[in-house]
Amino acid sequence: MAEGVQFSRYLGKRAASMAEYAPDPLEVVAAHLGMLVGQLIKLDANENPFGPSRRALQAIIGYNAWQEYPDPISRQLRSAIGSYLRVDAARVMVGNGSDELIDQIVTLFRPEAGVGGIREVLSFPPTFGMYKHYTAVNDMQLVEIPRDSAFQLDMAAIERLCSDGQPRLCFVASPNNPDGQLLPKSTLTRLLELPLLVVLDEAYVEFSERSAVALTKSYDNLIVLRTFSKWAGLAGLRVGYGVFPPDLMSALERIKSPYNVNGLAQAAALATLEDLPGAMATVQRIIAEREKARERLETLPFLRLYPSQANYLFCKVVGIPMPTLRKAMEARGIILRYYPDSALDDCVRITIGTPSQNDAVWVTLRELANQEVR
Ligand SMILES: Cc1ncc(COP(=O)(O)O)c(C=O)c1O
Repeated sequence: MAEGVQFSRYLGKRAASMAEYAPDPLEVVAAHLGMLVGQLIKLDANENPFGPSRRALQAIIGYNAWQEYPDPISRQLRSAIGSYLRVDAARVMVGNGSDELIDQIVTLFRPEAGVGGIREVLSFPPTFGMYKHYTAVNDMQLVEIPRDSAFQLDMAAIERLCSDGQPRLCFVASPNNPDGQLLPKSTLTRLLELPLLVVLDEAYVEFSERSAVALTKSYDNLIVLRTFSKWAGLAGLRVGYGVFPPDLMSALERIKSPYNVNGLAQAAALATLEDLPGAMATVQRIIAEREKARERLETLPFLRLYPSQANYLFCKVVGIPMPTLRKAMEARGIILRYYPDSALDDCVRITIGTPSQNDAVWVTLRELANQEVR
């Protein structure tokens, strides 16, 4: 080994400026709460409590191509996605979760010395954190235009910024994480009229009443991202995809890692699409549970709910301290998503779970309401 060279000194500032994403493993959370992992009710990550469809599970159990490299460009899966969305499969790109596609899109436009590139990435917080993360990883400039108190976009500020005619990338989630609201159609069309490459992140769209994916046929500045992590219950296998303008496809294909989507993941995602009625039945169960949970939680005096169309409910907590609520939930092993040390520190996001998990949330919150009244 070379003597005297301390390579960590050559790291630069980029990594130091970013936060590691490493939530505690369930064993650690359980130990901290003095419980067993099996006692936890994990409703903090918008996972699908019912898991994959029966056909997808069969494909996972029966998978036997471990020794072979998978198809590097996921041909069969892309073709099935094309049929599912009624778009040309040649415009579909599959990634290791939609996270990877967010990274690839930003990388594609990262400026190079002297030529090309886009300098600024627009994001509208509060929103999904990975837009900011990958912008930083790729040394691009993040411009954040905050949403208003109802989580709507500040279109006047966005249009003012874009009036300089500079092309920019922009990420917008619909439904948005954390509030769960869809981007209004008129807002999307206003964004698309600007010199923006709009990346519409529809990670939760299967739980909502409409998708904008058909607009990819009319707008060459629209990318729609989707994932199998939420509705299809495959978060652990990491399969996301996007519908891209045709003229970006070959550049994307050239920069991607060869075997970014593993064979098991491709097989499970394909089986999900071959069993759409089965997979969609689960989605309908989650939507029904969400509406039931909404009706119940709306009766609690200390919760204000946003009209979520995703597989979670987002609530502002008024009149009781958040640590009190959190303590009551954690005493029952219920893990929710909190936002300490941020502008959302009075808010909580509750993933829709199984009926018994949702009952546990309801009973615990109702008890808390009764204690507060006494
Ligand atoms: C809005 C949004 N987009 C994308 C993702 C990431 O999805 P994937 O698991 O496909 O990387 C998430 C996950 O929480 C999300 O909330």
